[in-house]
Amino acid sequence: MAPVGGVAGSSRSAACCAVLLAAVLFFSAPATTEAYDSLDPNGNITIKWDIISWTPDGYVATVTMFNYQQFRHIPAPGWQLGWSWAKKEVIWSMVGAQATEQGDCSKFKSAPPHCCKRDPTIVDLLPGTPFNQQIANCCKAGVIKTFNQDPGNAASSFQISVGLAGTTNKTVKMPKNFTLRAPGPGYTCGRALVGRPTKYYSSDGRRVTQALMSWNVTCTYSQFLAQKTPTCCVSLSSFYNDTIVNCPTCSCGCQNNITRPGSCVNDNSPYLQSAINGPGKLTGQPLVQCTSHMCPIRIHWHVKLNYKDYWRVKVTITNFNYRMNYTDWNMVAQHPNFDNITKLFSFNYKPLTPYGGRINDTAMFWGMKFYNDLLNQAGPLGNAQSELLMRKDSETFTFQKGWAFPRRVYFNGDNCVMPSPDDYPWLPSASPLTKQPWTLPLLVFWTAMATLLAYYV
Ligand SMILES: *[C@@H]1O[C@H](CO)[C@@H](O)[C@H](O)[C@H]1NC(C)=O
Ligand SMILES: *[C@@H]1O[C@H](CO)[C@@H](O)[C@H](O)[C@H]1NC(C)=O
Ligand SMILES: *[C@@H]1O[C@H](CO)[C@@H](O)[C@H](O)[C@H]1NC(C)=O
Ligand SMILES: *[C@@H]1O[C@H](CO)[C@@H](O)[C@H](O)[C@H]1NC(C)=O
Ligand SMILES: *[C@@H]1O[C@H](CO)[C@@H](O)[C@H](O)[C@H]1NC(C)=O
Ligand SMILES: *[C@@H]1O[C@H](CO)[C@@H](O)[C@H](O)[C@H]1NC(C)=O
Ligand SMILES: *[C@@H]1O[C@H](CO)[C@@H](O)[C@H](O)[C@H]1NC(C)=O
Ligand SMILES: *[C@@H]1O[C@H](CO)[C@@H](O)[C@H](O)[C@H]1NC(C)=O
Ligand SMILES: *[C@@H]1O[C@H](CO)[C@@H](O)[C@H](O)[C@H]1NC(C)=O
Repeated sequence: MAPVGGVAGSSRSAACCAVLLAAVLFFSAPATTEAYDSLDPNGNITIKWDIISWTPDGYVATVTMFNYQQFRHIPAPGWQLGWSWAKKEVIWSMVGAQATEQGDCSKFKSAPPHCCKRDPTIVDLLPGTPFNQQIANCCKAGVIKTFNQDPGNAASSFQISVGLAGTTNKTVKMPKNFTLRAPGPGYTCGRALVGRPTKYYSSDGRRVTQALMSWNVTCTYSQFLAQKTPTCCVSLSSFYNDTIVNCPTCSCGCQNNITRPGSCVNDNSPYLQSAINGPGKLTGQPLVQCTSHMCPIRIHWHVKLNYKDYWRVKVTITNFNYRMNYTDWNMVAQHPNFDNITKLFSFNYKPLTPYGGRINDTAMFWGMKFYNDLLNQAGPLGNAQSELLMRKDSETFTFQKGWAFPRRVYFNGDNCVMPSPDDYPWLPSASPLTKQPWTLPLLVFWTAMATLLAYYV
């Protein structure tokens, strides 16, 4: 249990205890297990299925996937969209994507369809696809960015010509059982709903056309369903205590040379190159550097400096995965002082206000284009750093009880494993009774030390 131990002697310390208790409850909240993320409560991927013309035996539709998640993108090798046809539909042709399997088209004597499977799986085309097989928003190898980081690449579209289908809005049937893999499991898709017909604006904005009929399907993510082991962890340090609190041991897996040989490699190992190109290469399975936490990503939060009105934090993201350059990575953190971020160095930043703007304690960070938007594979270049300057609010600011450390951290949408609050670096001789006369001189001393230390950390 956390060192709550306050003596509720006065109303002041009672209030302090309530806050602490809330903090402890918060810290010990279990990792999200349902398809609901309190930091992104409306996050979803919406698939819009717009019928744009009827054909003699079916229709042509434009299908677009919008990533309405604040901080989860679909990385390489990209999305796979599947569904079950309601009747005996076939796909005559596709533009901007393709079905992975044609299936049994033997009934068709001449010109077989593109796909005859009852439950087709669709994948995006690769960049560089010939122009006559492209449509707008296609051909990005299935990668979909977030609207926050790259609004121009937060959607993915293809066109599909469906046969043996209904040919009016009364006889046409919506496909069922949509599945989205991105690229692994984790998403659950709802039923297709008939929505208002999508409107299209001409590029000069002088004419509006509309779909004949529009359906939409909403898919939501759950880290629990994804059944992924954690992919990142958090370590902590501060200028006022020289303890470095490492990521919890086995955060993402355990080193075990007997049952899992080759589960990690050392940086100086002669087998490094052959391990990188080993059997896991094609599946994209991470190959991590041997550490006690075995995570591909570590986020280090260092409370660096204390000024009169401001304080400064240094955040370092380290890549321990030899098989992955994280392109367009993002990080989300929650800290009560994020409503007063005054300056941020070398990262982009957006406040997220998941509780309808009432609480402004969550922020999303990502790299700067052409500078550190690509987090290099493990090695000397495999890290990205930033410093945050925050203005103190005298009502709430304290170095006590780990207040200066983040409450939650996500990397690329995955919840990172935090050290236990019991282990957080303490203020020297921290006592539940605040404002001891000697705390201030000590703080001044450690601040001076930190200035020196800053050169080494
Ligand atoms: C999906 O996201 C959009 C955009 O944020 C939102 O308007 C919509 O309500 C969400 N849908 C669901 C089912 O949460
Ligand atoms: C189908 O089309 C008719 C007109 O042809 C229209 O009145 C009706 O609202 C449409 N229904 C749907 C579900 O789009
Ligand atoms: C959709 O999935 C459910 C449950 O997985 C299954 O019972 C049903 O037959 C499927 N429907 C179609 C059309 O494949
Ligand atoms: C999807 O369709 C439902 C039902 O008509 C509608 O309420 C919702 O706003 C639509 N969502 C989007 C993102 O178009
Ligand atoms: C596993 O092997 C690596 C070197 O291959 C070594 O550094 C590490 O200490 C070993 N771990 C255990 C738990 O034996
Ligand atoms: C990562 O990018 C570097 C160039 O920046 C390249 O040399 C390296 O092969 C890439 N690694 C992987 C795993 O793609
Ligand atoms: C949240 O705080 C940031 C400063 O860190 C500020 O720029 C932003 O306007 C605040 N947003 C809201 C909704 O209060
Ligand atoms: C911190 O931000 C909040 C909300 O944006 C504001 O009300 C408060 O005055 C700020 N505190 C300081 C010390 O700037
Ligand atoms: C630093 O913090 C640790 C807890 O992580 C605590 O055990 C230690 O006593 C602290 N050091 C000092 C000098 O207070």
